[in-house]
Amino acid sequence: MKLFIMFCLLTLIYFMNITIVGSIKSNDIRNHLGSRTPYRFRSNKNDSRIKFPNCKDSKIWMVIRHGTRLPSKKDIVAGANLVDLKFEILLQHENGKGPLSKEQLRRLEEWKDQLDAEQDSYLTLEGQDEMILLAERMQKRFPNAIRQRYDNKTFLFRYTATQRTQQSARFFTNGLFEKKDAQDIIFAPATKVDIILRFYKHCDRWQKQVKKNPDTYTEQRLYGHSSEMNKTLESVSKRLGLNRVLKLGLVNTMYKFCGYETSWDKHFTSPWCYGFDEESMKVFEYYHDIKAYWVDGYGYDLSYRQACLSIKNMFENFSEDKGPHATFLFTHSGTVLKLLTHMELYRPPAPLTSSFRDDGRKWKVSNIDCFGSNLAFVLYKCKTGDHVLTLHQEKIIKLPMCKHELCPLDYLKKYFKNSIYNCNYDDMCGLEKKPNATQKTSV
Ligand SMILES: *[C@@H]1O[C@H](CO)[C@@H](O)[C@H](O)[C@H]1NC(C)=O
Ligand SMILES: *[C@@H]1O[C@H](CO)[C@@H](O)[C@H](O)[C@H]1NC(C)=O
Ligand SMILES: *[C@@H]1O[C@H](CO)[C@@H](O)[C@H](O)[C@H]1NC(C)=O
Ligand SMILES: *[C@@H]1O[C@H](CO)[C@@H](O)[C@H](O)[C@H]1NC(C)=O
Ligand SMILES: *[C@@H]1O[C@H](CO)[C@@H](O)[C@H](O)[C@H]1NC(C)=O
Repeated sequence: MKLFIMFCLLTLIYFMNITIVGSIKSNDIRNHLGSRTPYRFRSNKNDSRIKFPNCKDSKIWMVIRHGTRLPSKKDIVAGANLVDLKFEILLQHENGKGPLSKEQLRRLEEWKDQLDAEQDSYLTLEGQDEMILLAERMQKRFPNAIRQRYDNKTFLFRYTATQRTQQSARFFTNGLFEKKDAQDIIFAPATKVDIILRFYKHCDRWQKQVKKNPDTYTEQRLYGHSSEMNKTLESVSKRLGLNRVLKLGLVNTMYKFCGYETSWDKHFTSPWCYGFDEESMKVFEYYHDIKAYWVDGYGYDLSYRQACLSIKNMFENFSEDKGPHATFLFTHSGTVLKLLTHMELYRPPAPLTSSFRDDGRKWKVSNIDCFGSNLAFVLYKCKTGDHVLTLHQEKIIKLPMCKHELCPLDYLKKYFKNSIYNCNYDDMCGLEKKPNATQKTSV
């Protein structure tokens, strides 16, 4: 009896922990961390098998952004500026002055800039967990498409030439298979140029006309100088007890570190979140969402047209019985956003601009492109023909061009015929031809 009570108590604590760690209240500032949002806030813990009458899950094709990683080199360098800021804040709080509590000051005092620039962008322990758990849940949902036993003909794992995607793939397979299978797993060799996993990286026209085009950043720059942003910089500075107004660059670094440090460690509150309230978080979230919209989203048609290179691969795989049954592609934020856009998901009614922040917008990177973000297509063989089910962040979604969640494959292939048959890398990405092919969405 005692043992039983103990067991119940432990189970209760275990589940309470999951709910505390896994989901957060709607007014929590950590809902607005943008692309640095940890996957545990967005994942779907319901891993019941997904069944449809007279249908069987037969193939899966899934794109996964790497899990939580360390900051980039650029962010690590910028993070060094937080050391001076830390001492300035502590100085302003000497002799019991200032708005931060004793506990907050203690945490800030303990904070150290201890990142190694050599390990920039490496996958973290939390990122490993994200991948293991994601794999376990996906296998439970689709046990026929994702078998328990590894087989080099039915599984395909592919990653880009980076540590974070390679490690994400490894830990994902640890979630799928027994340890003894692990050394047999074949990973497709990573290549510097990979037009399926990271089509934009070497797309010259996109690099020139979008990524390196100053116009792309106009709306973000304007928002950075808006009175809304100025008020935010004042309020953040005030909340930290400073008697000067911090510059956009430094507060942006604080915002990023608040995100990174929240992601890395479930049990640690980053002191760099102390400066923000819900409103100021929303402002910084929007500041980054504008950029994602113009660089990787609906801003320029070339950005999302290129994603045909990837989506075509899915249709090819689903159209034949041969080929892998389970394809897992480990890649980056830029690929996930362009794919979502190609599928016409999360399209805002109007371009994102500096003059109007719509908090109800669908285009929110915190939701659609957090660490570990994933888009899965599952082929169901049904009595009534082949159908495709789409899941984003492990939740079933309805594609806007489909009537139902389970959408006929033939209909999708017709709808996306340009993506399949009219998708030529050289035509899209070459600089010499069609100089005016990149259309900007009008503001
Ligand atoms: C869990 O997912 C299954 C399959 O999608 C669904 O039928 C069930 O209602 C879900 N359970 C809960 C508690 O949401
Ligand atoms: C794939 O697995 C089979 C056994 O199931 C093995 O004979 C074959 O060598 C493997 N292929 C490669 C490329 O390792
Ligand atoms: C915001 O502050 C910057 C720098 O202090 C200034 O150049 C800009 O004019 C301000 N914007 C508004 C709308 O007040
Ligand atoms: C499925 O996709 C992989 C690459 O991800 C490709 O090598 C393979 O040929 C495709 N299979 C089919 C049947 O199209
Ligand atoms: C731009 O493209 C249009 C067709 O979309 C074409 O009629 C026009 O001649 C092109 N302009 C230039 C300068 O190439």
